[in-house]
Amino acid sequence: MRKRKSLDSPAPVTIVIFGATGNLARSKLLPALYQLERAGQLADDTRIIGFGRREWSDAEWQEDVRRMCLAGGEDDCPHDEAIDRLLPRLHFHAGDHNDPTCFGRLAEQLERPEYPDCVMFYFAVSPQAFGAICHNLAGAGLTDEATGCRRVVIEKPFGHDIDSAHALDGLLHQHFEERQIFRIDHYLGKGTVQNIMVMRFANLLLEPLWNRNYIDHVQISHAEEQGIEGRGEYYDSAGALRDMVQSHLMQMLALVAMEPPASMDAEAVRDEKVKVLRCIRPIAHRGVHAQAFRAQYARGVVNGENERGYLDAPGVPGDSVTETYAALKLYIDNWRWRGVPFYLRTGKRMAKTHSQISIRFREPPQQLFRETQIAHTVPNWLLIGIQPEENFRFEIQIKTEGLEMRTRTVQMDASYTGPQPQKLDAYAALILDVINGDQTLFLRYDEVSWAWRVVDPILRNWAVERDYIPTYPAGSWGPPEADRLFDDDSHRWRNNLKIPGED
Ligand code: BG6
Repeated sequence: MRKRKSLDSPAPVTIVIFGATGNLARSKLLPALYQLERAGQLADDTRIIGFGRREWSDAEWQEDVRRMCLAGGEDDCPHDEAIDRLLPRLHFHAGDHNDPTCFGRLAEQLERPEYPDCVMFYFAVSPQAFGAICHNLAGAGLTDEATGCRRVVIEKPFGHDIDSAHALDGLLHQHFEERQIFRIDHYLGKGTVQNIMVMRFANLLLEPLWNRNYIDHVQISHAEEQGIEGRGEYYDSAGALRDMVQSHLMQMLALVAMEPPASMDAEAVRDEKVKVLRCIRPIAHRGVHAQAFRAQYARGVVNGENERGYLDAPGVPGDSVTETYAALKLYIDNWRWRGVPFYLRTGKRMAKTHSQISIRFREPPQQLFRETQIAHTVPNWLLIGIQPEENFRFEIQIKTEGLEMRTRTVQMDASYTGPQPQKLDAYAALILDVINGDQTLFLRYDEVSWAWRVVDPILRNWAVERDYIPTYPAGSWGPPEADRLFDDDSHRWRNNLKIPGED
């Protein structure tokens, strides 16, 4: 997908991070910039401006970033050369994103010769702040490309529902052209997610089987041991469906189900993803219960630790019915997939952290071994580990040793993780793409809007059903009632990459 062949010619940019002291900037963006520094991927002149409300000096911000980036590793490398190169690039701009005068000062700062002309604005703030920032950037002349490129990076969720997404897109287009807008979904920066395309389109082997004739169903599952980690306010207004399904899981579904693109150009790839999303059968109001399930974690034990329930998390109202678990069943009504259920599931405070795509093939057309000890063959699976394990596993049946006609399941493992001295995390890879102006791994608005169209009926239904939400104990795999979504009694969630019975 990324067309660049080598990683050796980064362009100098000025990166302005709105929300520089917030959770996203601290946990993902600044560590990603540090990784890019370590990998030699920041041009010498690159400058980073942190825009935030705190009255911090450059030195205070630099110290905070130093501690954050070296957390855990400082003892091992007290003289980290990368951090020594990164810190002098960092400048803190104390300001309020609602105050136009702060943007006037920012414009003056950016005019100084040490700041490269190409500027990328990263909106690492809550979506409610996007409007004010856009207006104020425009008011200060900072959207004007006369002196150099201007790019905006917008985090998900892009809007709160289909209408607000549309309004947000209109607002962005008042001030920016589409080529300047980078709607980020960090899952597209993950190596294993990109590998889905390679596995499908760089190999001929799978293509004849990749359709309704051979595939029984597809599972896309993301589970986290962690809870909402200090993000109570945001999370309670979002919920699992908006936070994970509308964006990350729907993108994985699109990559699994899309047709081969005409080329690997950004537009060709995104056209194919949109075609798949458009073919997802709309969920009727009365079909929501049959196709979607939500739940919330209650107290329980995760990894041997007692954990509080969601309602006890800071920032969460005591009567919240926001879902921390969402599962749904979708059908893609096209030639390739009609009738094949796609099960999507995500949850916080689950038994294990994993992201995995599991594809079950149909049974052979004839049970030829019925008269032997085999009696019934076990279907083949293709398991794609997105994280923490990164690999592909084919499950096939082979005969066991000995005279009897018995089989056992074995896995053929195409591991993806190997020695990768310069492995970049998803955010680092995507920031590099913004620097290079490559939009292939960013979302076009029509992708976002078709994904909203899929979940919107569920959100509307859940928004009015506010009396009750099922719960599951923290540390479990979610409520068993969610299994009612399965089309067939033989369907079960694959919770890991191991052979069933050996886990
Ligand atoms: C974010 C969500 O987009 O993705 C978080 O807001 C979630 O709630 C995270 O934890 C998961 O990302 P990753 O890369 O840790 O799987």
